[in-house]
Amino acid sequence: MRVAAPVAAPSRPPAKTDEGGRHAAMGTEALLTAVATEVRGCMRCPLHRGRSQAVPGEGSPLTDVLLVGEGPGAREDATGRPFVGPAGQLLTELLGSVGWQRSDVFIANVVKCRPPGNRDPEPAEVAACSSYLDRQEDALDPAVVVTLGRHSLQRYLPGARISSAHGQLRRSGGGRFVFPMYHPAAALHQASLRETLFADIRALPAALLAAREALEAERAASAQAAPPTEEPEAASVQQAHDTEQLTLF
Ligand code: URA
Ligand code: SF4
Repeated sequence: MRVAAPVAAPSRPPAKTDEGGRHAAMGTEALLTAVATEVRGCMRCPLHRGRSQAVPGEGSPLTDVLLVGEGPGAREDATGRPFVGPAGQLLTELLGSVGWQRSDVFIANVVKCRPPGNRDPEPAEVAACSSYLDRQEDALDPAVVVTLGRHSLQRYLPGARISSAHGQLRRSGGGRFVFPMYHPAAALHQASLRETLFADIRALPAALLAAREALEAERAASAQAAPPTEEPEAASVQQAHDTEQLTLF
């Protein structure tokens, strides 16, 4: 039985709100393009042999929300774009249910090339590919990473169980706010998960606000704890300069 999607709850698109966001995005876009170019030519793991196209990921360089899936399927491999098959259709619907579009977020995967027959990526393949996702994450510096499925969850919260972690804002060891969700493909096999996915994503806009507030508070606190070092630095440069001057005489 198909369960109807809940009525759309409008929420602000998840673009960065800081003043420097637009300016910073120029650097972000160049970094993301560089990663995508490398990924398309990558031969670091055996998955490159079976691919038609690598799938680096796509979305807004201004976003505060990074969604991380597992790896490309057949449709993604054929088009070079993430989440464009049946699971992707559901993901687009899920985003729409909170008033977001695909172009409001960034969508990437743990591995960028399709595992044969859609098998799980092997640990060595995940490890070989991880620096690309590291760099995408560094470039975007998202307030929240939404993990889709187990493989993505393991990267951020090793040992966590999707059945207890889904729909809740957590924090990774690296300090990222993480919002675990089931993989949309799971709902295509197990209909009851569809409702869970819609219920979980309904909590995402509020989780994003909570994460932003916590990050802002932490930034403010660390700025206060470590005041700008310009003056002492300037003084020591001056001192070095003076010393240099002295030795001249
Ligand atoms: N499943 C994934 O994990 N990623 C995709 O891009 C498509 C399907
Ligand atoms: Fe390179 Fe990642 Fe593709 Fe392996 S899966 S070939 S590491 S881009």
